[in-house]
Amino acid sequence: MKESPSLLRFGVASDLHVTDWASAETFRRALRWFRDQGVDAVMVPGDLTDHGLLPQLENVARSWREVFPDDRAPDGRRVEKLFIYGNHDFEGLGYRDKWMDATFAVHGLSREEADGLQLRRIGLDKAWERCFGEPYAPIWRKRVKGFDFIGGHSAWQAPAGLADWFAANAASLDPGKPFFYIQHPHPKGTVYGARACGCDDGTAARVLSAFPNAVAITGHSHLPLTDDLAVWRGAFTSVAAASLSYGFWPETPERTERSRAAAVGFPGGVPFAQGLLVDVFADRIELRARDFARNEPLGVPQVLPCAASPTTRGRSATATSTTSPSSTRSIRRCPSASARTPTTASSSSMTATSS
Ligand SMILES: [Fe+2]
Repeated sequence: MKESPSLLRFGVASDLHVTDWASAETFRRALRWFRDQGVDAVMVPGDLTDHGLLPQLENVARSWREVFPDDRAPDGRRVEKLFIYGNHDFEGLGYRDKWMDATFAVHGLSREEADGLQLRRIGLDKAWERCFGEPYAPIWRKRVKGFDFIGGHSAWQAPAGLADWFAANAASLDPGKPFFYIQHPHPKGTVYGARACGCDDGTAARVLSAFPNAVAITGHSHLPLTDDLAVWRGAFTSVAAASLSYGFWPETPERTERSRAAAVGFPGGVPFAQGLLVDVFADRIELRARDFARNEPLGVPQVLPCAASPTTRGRSATATSTTSPSSTRSIRRCPSASARTPTTASSSSMTATSS
């Protein structure tokens, strides 16, 4: 196992969309790689499961325990879970169509049996505590090696009460170091700009714009980390987390059927499994994108200055425009999206709207 040279090192793997045990293998592969890099924590910004069912969440939790038993690395260090629910965890069973039925069948459940196993039927809090052995809170805060992480379980919007939460807790956030905010949808007007689908209504950007040291890490769009707009820096920093299960090619604002058909990672399509390794130093944050389908790095690390600066705290939001990533960045482009041929018409239409 490598020893991290940074103050804090964590992995990011979003949108797992786990169904059965076999479908979680990519997640376990990513966890093993993170473990071997000596991470202090692993973040999953939502869509842990595909259909929002208890057995699927249990497969996520069991995978975690297999790699990090008792939340520990092999050397005994604690490795923190930084997980949240996404829209599929809240309501994934409702997205069923022909393509989802094919993957759903692996559980051998009838419709009635599946209905009763929905996380929201069981209770999102009860299911969480049963699977992960930790208290559930709609907005949680964890501290890892002196750095704050704030997670908000969220489907299509920022978690309810986000502004109130920050109003109550802002004074305890150290303005001299970055903190990390996790929700499922991208903050509106940040990463991917107009090409991002399913952003929130702007709440997260309005709240975070008061914190130049805030780094939002979000999923949901399944867009690639190789896109120039996968990182946005304005009044705060916004980082996209892609997906560990399937991906979409950046869409046009019109979201044409042709662009939907460019989604990769479906049966017979192009493997897509991307994540991040994040290192935090005293003066910078380094992002390393990784392709977990091919087990290889994606481009070169992106280096961001730590935004913490009390003199700029409280400046107005600039989240209505998009900015290019740091000039230090040099990420290679993805291969042609035309390599994927959708197996069914329903596969492209469903996932483009429910990622
Ligand atoms: Fe997703």
